[in-house]
Amino acid sequence: MFFRQSITRRQTLHLGLAALAGMGACAQKQSGKLVDQDNQAQLSTSFTIEGESSLKERAAAKGLIYGAAGSYSALSSNPEFAAKFAQECAMLVPENSLKWLTLRPSREQFNFNQGDWLAQFADRHDMLFRGHTLVWNQSLPQWFQNNVNKGNAESLMREHLQVVMKHYAGKVHSWDVVNEAIFPQHGRADGLRLTPWLQTLGPNYIDLAFEIAAEMDPQAMLVYNDTRMAHDTPENESRRTNVLKLLERLKSRGVPVHALGLQAHLWGWGKVPFLEPKRMRAFLHEVAQLELKILVTELDVADNQLPADPQIRDRLVAGAYEDYLSVVLDEPAVIAVLTWGLSDQYTWRSKWPRGDGNPVRPLPLDAQMNRKLAWNAIARAFDHTRAR
Ligand code: XIL
Repeated sequence: MFFRQSITRRQTLHLGLAALAGMGACAQKQSGKLVDQDNQAQLSTSFTIEGESSLKERAAAKGLIYGAAGSYSALSSNPEFAAKFAQECAMLVPENSLKWLTLRPSREQFNFNQGDWLAQFADRHDMLFRGHTLVWNQSLPQWFQNNVNKGNAESLMREHLQVVMKHYAGKVHSWDVVNEAIFPQHGRADGLRLTPWLQTLGPNYIDLAFEIAAEMDPQAMLVYNDTRMAHDTPENESRRTNVLKLLERLKSRGVPVHALGLQAHLWGWGKVPFLEPKRMRAFLHEVAQLELKILVTELDVADNQLPADPQIRDRLVAGAYEDYLSVVLDEPAVIAVLTWGLSDQYTWRSKWPRGDGNPVRPLPLDAQMNRKLAWNAIARAFDHTRAR
């Protein structure tokens, strides 16, 4: 009954195959007729996997990297979580420790304590280490906001990249050099977000950031990272168009950008549909044609609007993971998948709580560190993709 009331025909059309299959398998238990005849064929899909090997092993078998964002506080205080992290992940990205707010209490001081601890943790467990993030409109300390101006913005940027990138030089697989520069809602023809960097240095602040970054750590892969490109909405479409234009412009000027990061903070099925696979593949292909690699950098699935029953919710979340990854991994330029966290115990998604007060479940492991269907879905996507 519950399902009939809460899932409309229109909404089921927005579900991808795996989500439908997952929902169907579960829904059938509750009500034999919920998923209509058209979808019966898909009900045989389940999130079954072969073997017990970890996500990093399954990814590596296909020449891919699997990793996750981890916070200093979680990894340094919870040994069980840290052990799971090391077991599943081949790459660690500090969730907040390499952002300005953590690194720079003042212009003169740099605080590398958390970042260094995480870099050592990664090293101890043979994980790659990713840098996130150097030039962004968020996480800027008050002292920066009070002082930045046209006269000092370039030197502030240069000084930051010089000190931070040189500190970690040789240890970083890839740096998110510029994060979230596109924001079509701000109304500029080039789609750029109005940020202190844009307002002081103009649109070339992006070129400048990559040029300085290449100088400071010539070994690191330099990534342009942005959000909201997975769904079939006018806003997401405009981002895809503007991101592509930006990357084309950078490449045509010889700016050293090496990869696009797709954040992929996905909405669960109830909110908005995914971009249809053909169009998503075409978008990724266009990026790849620019001789750029692609990383899925911050994958998670919002479940705050999904039904309360955790079993149903987990199936829908898993379906979203599988639908998204099975399409994105078709593009050979995709080299890595990182989830934004590993366990539901530590997720930024809890900032958007569910109306019913139940904890959110957006990640591969539950809050007790058990593998969920989302884990299976990611494992299956790795198992089914072609080797790089
Ligand atoms: C988020 C962290 O997860 C939170 O803990 C923090 O309070 C805010 O930032 N896009 C990004 C990430 O590039 O840095 C953000 O991380 C999530 C959205």
